[in-house]
Parts: sequence; structure tokens; C-alpha cells
Amino acid sequence: MTLIRSQLIGFGHYLPSKILTNDDLAQIVETNDEWIRTRTGIVSRHISDGESTSDMAFKAAQMAIQTAGISVEELDMIIMATVTPDNTTPSVAAKLSNRLGAKFGTICMDISAACSGFVYALTIVDNMIRLGQVKTALVIGGETISKVLDWSDRNTCVLFGDAAGAAIVRAGEGNGTAEDTGILATKLYADGSHYDSLKITGGVSTTQTAGVINMDGKEVFKFAVNALSQASEEVMAMAGVTSEQVDWVLPHQANIRIIEGVGKKLAVPDEKVIVTVDHHGNTSAASIPIALSENYQSGRIKKGDLLVLSAMGAGFTWGGALVRL
Ligand code: UT7
Repeated sequence: MTLIRSQLIGFGHYLPSKILTNDDLAQIVETNDEWIRTRTGIVSRHISDGESTSDMAFKAAQMAIQTAGISVEELDMIIMATVTPDNTTPSVAAKLSNRLGAKFGTICMDISAACSGFVYALTIVDNMIRLGQVKTALVIGGETISKVLDWSDRNTCVLFGDAAGAAIVRAGEGNGTAEDTGILATKLYADGSHYDSLKITGGVSTTQTAGVINMDGKEVFKFAVNALSQASEEVMAMAGVTSEQVDWVLPHQANIRIIEGVGKKLAVPDEKVIVTVDHHGNTSAASIPIALSENYQSGRIKKGDLLVLSAMGAGFTWGGALVRL
């Protein structure tokens, strides 16, 4: 049986050149390199030096378009996962469509699912491609989280970084088996009863400010390990594969202890678990696409590899995707 499969054919990423180390942070708040390394695994993070979310997304998108070997005119859709847009409206995607020179009619939208944003966006695109509404899409996760950090709160300001990552997803063909190339399964979840456990405090209809990140770290931590493992298991089961058949486990990059916990629950060796949190920090919706792009460009992740992606963030939202490159 021939069916449409959404194939990931190119990746891009952009990290601002300004690097903030743990020692730099110790000059700002009561913290130290040892605490941050041992509690989070983070060594350094990139911080925007005047670049907006769309500036970073533009560079990541250009790289993804180039590595995919397509032209901008081929894009039918641009979907941007972010909680730190340039403006409340229009979408960052609309801004990018103009800057990239996308054709008239290219669908543009931003989606708000915090750290789960890229997996949410990928799922939306996969469904639109399989319905035949879109053939080629640009999917981006990009955040300027540094702009919504309370730089006097050591509980949060040490955890995050700025970045953008992008992927080109295009309609291809498969025969419905786990040997196909492309997105083999996706699953999204949310539970709004955790609305207040992780949030950016401001908003248009409430404070008319952007607000700052506020988080119950322990609650998020516990939830994240279970949510990321369960979403990974679900998408593997949907496609009928086991964790032994997977080449790479790529969980959202928030904390090395969460990432290791997921690897343990899935019973995969450490060498199969992708880690970028050490040099990126938590970049929210950008974390999965920049990890994909960095590891693809370096040749570590290759065509034909089977990856299980999982993400969890504010809402709470979470989800997984099983992808063969
Ligand atoms: O993408 C989803 C978003 N976020 C996450 O996934 C993050 C999930 N949560 C976490 O990663 C962890 O809960 C944190 C890294 C945020 C915190 O780690 P923890 O092991 O849960 O530490 P804690 O909050 O229990 O704090 C332990 C101690 C506290 O001191 P006392 O009360 O024991 O005296 C904190 O005040 O560490 C203190 N502390 C710090 N010390 C030095 C908290 N932040 C810092 C800091 N530097 N930056």
C-alpha cells in the first residue's frame, strides 16, 4: 500500500554569538558553576545580543532551505513554534515569509505550546501533508527566552538560552511500514490543570506586559521524566518498534537529569541519547530542531536513522514523534 509520508529533508539552526557561562551568571545572582553543572548539566548558553526571535529564525530557516536543496518558492507553509514572538500579532511566520521571499499564499502561523512547540508544529504539518493540503513546509522553533527571564531569580535565570532551529518537511511516499522514511507516528497531549506550574506571568488581556518565567521546578521535573518517556513509548508502540530498534532518543533539552531519566526509563544506552543542554541550556521550542540540525550537520545523525523525539512544556503540553530520516 502506497501512502504519503512527511519526510524531513533539511535542517538549520542559529545560536547567537554571545555566550553566557555559569561563572558569568555567578556575577549576576547567588549561584555557582558547581551547582548549575550538577543540578542541570548546563555549562553555557547563548544569549541574544539584540537579535529578535525572527532574526534568529530567519538564519535557521535559510540554512534548512539550503541543506534541503529546495527553493523558497516551493514552501506552501511556514509554521513557527514560539512563546517569544517579535510582536503579539502578526505571527513571526508571516514576518519570515516576507523576509525569505515566500510565494503568494504560503500559509503562515505561529503556535504556542512552549517547550513542546516544535513537536506540536511537526504534528500539525504532518497531518496537513498527509491530507494533501501542503506539499512542502518550513517548521521552526525559535525563542528569545532571555527577554522573559527575571535576572534576579536564580531558580530560573540559569536554566535558559536563546536560539532557533528549523526543518524542511516534504511530502514523500512510503508503504506504511516502520522501514519508511519520514514521520512514522506522532502523539500530542495537554493537561491544563498544571497551568500555573510553569508560566510566563504577563499577557495582553491581563497585565499588558510580557511577564517573566515562573516555575515550580520540582513539579515540572517529576512530570517531565514521565511525560517524555510515556510519549516516546507511545509513538514507538504506534509504529510497532521497540527502543532497541531506535538509533537516537532525543528528549527536550531542559536538564541532564531529566534526559538521563528518560534514557533509563526507555532502557537505551547513554550513547543513543542526544544531549545538547550542556552548551545550549533550555531553549524551549528550539531545543529539538537545533539538536537535530547540529547532529545532522556533524554527521552523527544520518539518513536512514530512526529517532524518537519527545518534548514537554508549559500548559502542561507534551508529545512525541517517531521519525526516520
Ligand atoms: O522545559 C520545561 C521547563 N523546565 C524544566 O524542565 C525544569 C525542571 N526542573 C528542574 O530542572 C529542577 O527542578 C531545577 C534545576 C529547576 C532545580 O533543581 P532541584 O534539584 O529541584 O533544586 P531545588 O529547586 O530543590 O533547590 C535546591 C536548593 C535550594 O536551596 P535550599 O532551599 O535547599 O537551601 C535552592 O534555593 O538549591 C537552591 N538553588 C540554587 N542554588 C544555587 C536554586 N537555584 C539555585 C542556583 N544556584 N541557581
